[in-house]
Formats: sequence, C-alpha cells, structure tokens
Amino acid sequence: MNDLFVTQSVRKRYVSGNDQVLAIDGIDLVITQGEYVAVIGPSGSGKSTLLHMLGGLDMPSGGEVLYRGKDIYRLSDKELARWRNETVGFVFQFYHLLGELTVSENVSLPMFLRNRDRKSALKKGIELLQYLGIPEKKDSFPAQLSGGQKQKVALARALINDPDILFCDEPTGNLDKESSTKVMSLLQEWHNVKHRTLVMVTHNESLTSGADRVLYLHEGKIETVSSGT
Ligand SMILES: Nc1ncnc2c1ncn2[C@@H]1O[C@H](COP(=O)(O)OP(=O)(O)OP(=O)(O)O)[C@@H](O)[C@H]1O
Ligand SMILES: [Mg+2]
Repeated sequence: MNDLFVTQSVRKRYVSGNDQVLAIDGIDLVITQGEYVAVIGPSGSGKSTLLHMLGGLDMPSGGEVLYRGKDIYRLSDKELARWRNETVGFVFQFYHLLGELTVSENVSLPMFLRNRDRKSALKKGIELLQYLGIPEKKDSFPAQLSGGQKQKVALARALINDPDILFCDEPTGNLDKESSTKVMSLLQEWHNVKHRTLVMVTHNESLTSGADRVLYLHEGKIETVSSGT
C-alpha cells in the first residue's frame, strides 16, 4: 500500500479553564506516499492543529494517526521524538531558528542529534545551503538575515535528515512576493525531484497550484476536497 498517513476519526479538544474548543472534529484522511496536499481554510479552522497531530507534535484527544499502519501516539515519548527526527520535517511561518547558533549550526542540528557526527552534519548542511542559494550565510546568525533567508535556513534544517514528509505551516506567510515565490519553487522542486510527500497549510489559495489535492477545513472538519490544478 502507498498509504503514508491514515487518520481515523481524529479529534482535538483544547480545554482552558471553563472554555473548550473542538479544534479538530473527526477527520478521516488518507495521504499517500509522494502526494502534495494543500490545506486551506479560515483562521481558527484547525489547519495548524491538524498538521501538528499528523507530525507527532500534538496528541489527539480521540481517534488515531497511523503512519505506515502504526499509531504514532502509541509510541513512547522517546520513540515518537526519534520518529519525528528521522521521518518528518517542519517549516513554520516564523522560522523558529535558534538565535545563539549560526546558520550552519541551526541547519545541521537535527542531523547532529541523530547521529552525533558533527563533521558530516555540518558538511551536509553546507551542501543544502548551497542548494538553497545562501552558502555565504553559513557563519551568520539568524538575526542578521532577511525573512526570506531565514525561511531558507528553516527549510534546509527541515530537509537535513532527508524526511519522508515535509509539513509546512504558512511557510511564506511572512515573506514578500519575491521570497515567497522562491521558497515555494524550492518546496515544489524538492517534492518533484525526490517524490516525497508535502503537506502545506496556506491562507493564499493561489499558492495551492501544483498540489495534487486541496483540503478545505472549516470548524475542524474537512468540508470539501478538490483536486489541485
Ligand atoms: N494550545 C491551544 N490551546 C487552546 N486552544 C487552541 C490551542 N491551539 C489552537 N487552539 C484553538 O483551536 C482552534 C484551531 O486553531 P488552529 O491554530 O489549528 O487554527 P488555524 O486554522 O491554524 O488558524 P490560523 O489560520 O489563524 O493559523 C482555534 O479556535 C484555536 O483558538
Ligand atoms: Mg495556523
């Protein structure tokens, strides 16, 4: 089977004090290997929550998230952290780079954590920075970079362990048009060349071109699914 992810009646309820929010309200979804799935929907519809649950960052309140047939939330914390490190990459709107580390160290960190070989991690990081067009920034600190450059660093960090699947949450939400186009084409190139799975949340419907499927989320449910353009 080519099913990479299967969710079964997955739900997420957030409780704070007397308030409850049903952020994800029963989603059944299959994502196949090599697919490019775009997720759109209004603010608060549950897009980020769904992405986090798929990526092993947020435990569902009910239902299951299966990766290659295995429920990832039945893994121990340590196993889940290892699965995330080896299997998925995340790119967020606000980069989440570590300010006290150089560009090169930020990019190499997930590989360094994986096999502890600092030298080969740094080497692969520099290759990725070259691929993304910013090798000259390797010794800079994140604060010295533009938004587009920071996002390229975040992308390099997400790709360093050669993930099966890349989750992007509004990856261009904070970028100007030129940087946004560049980052999008790098993401698509990665997907096309490597035939790896890409799941991308975006507010901007025009950025869904190239997707195999577009999911429209509304109030925690998948309202419609359309094939991409
Ligand atoms: N940690 C949390 N604690 C409590 N409620 C939360 C939490 N995270 C999300 N929510 C709520 O869950 C719902 C879905 O949030 P989510 O962040 O998934 O929406 P979104 O579609 O990504 O929105 P946006 O487009 O603004 O990023 C919202 O009502 C939000 O307030
Ligand atoms: Mg969000």
